[in-house]
Amino acid sequence: MLKIGVLASGRGSNFQAIIDAIENKNLKASIEILITDNPSAFAIERAKRHNIKHIFINPKEFATKDEFFKKVADELKSCGVELVILAGFMRIVRKPLVDEFPNRIMNIHPALLPSFPGLHGQKQALDYGVKISGCTVHFVDEGMDTGPVIIQAAVPVMPDDTEDTLSERILSFEHRIYPEAVRLFSEGRLVINGRTVKIKEQHGVPSNIVNPPFRQE
Ligand code: GAR
Repeated sequence: MLKIGVLASGRGSNFQAIIDAIENKNLKASIEILITDNPSAFAIERAKRHNIKHIFINPKEFATKDEFFKKVADELKSCGVELVILAGFMRIVRKPLVDEFPNRIMNIHPALLPSFPGLHGQKQALDYGVKISGCTVHFVDEGMDTGPVIIQAAVPVMPDDTEDTLSERILSFEHRIYPEAVRLFSEGRLVINGRTVKIKEQHGVPSNIVNPPFRQE
């Protein structure tokens, strides 16, 4: 069974979506550890409720970012983690972690990459005036939201959207595509070729794009 390690900085609703997928038996995996860089992250409460080991690693205790990420990598390795899930982890991952888990770190981003990387992807989309945004699960490299795309969901931007309403609509799709990407990984169905991630089909149904149910007015 796939051993997962989760890194989170805050609310942890994507962490919860992975927990739920495991508990509902939609995902054959176990979460070995939650690591936070924030002692008041609500993700810690979720870990407690589900008896998941959790530790806080204080970035301020390390002289460099690389040393912090070396410590994170060491903790993940000591738990036998095979796949690292970034779930609202608000730091750019550095070489000591990426090198330890090549093509074995995933992130979720609240926009259709390569559009609107970095912070506040939803606000960036609103400010730009796009009509469709969405979310992206991708493998992590040392760049900011630059690794190979695994699954994307397209989400409409409504004329009266605020950052909050758009974020909420996108989040409901994040909670669908993140467990799905992890499931595909756990089934050995993700094949990375350069920038491209091919999904090995099971029943001839492509599963790399999720479209929302558009309502006809
Ligand atoms: C999510 O919307 C996630 O896509 C975003 O932070 C939120 C975390 O929510 N991540 C980023 O913006 C990363 N650049 P959560 O803590 O409830 O999962």
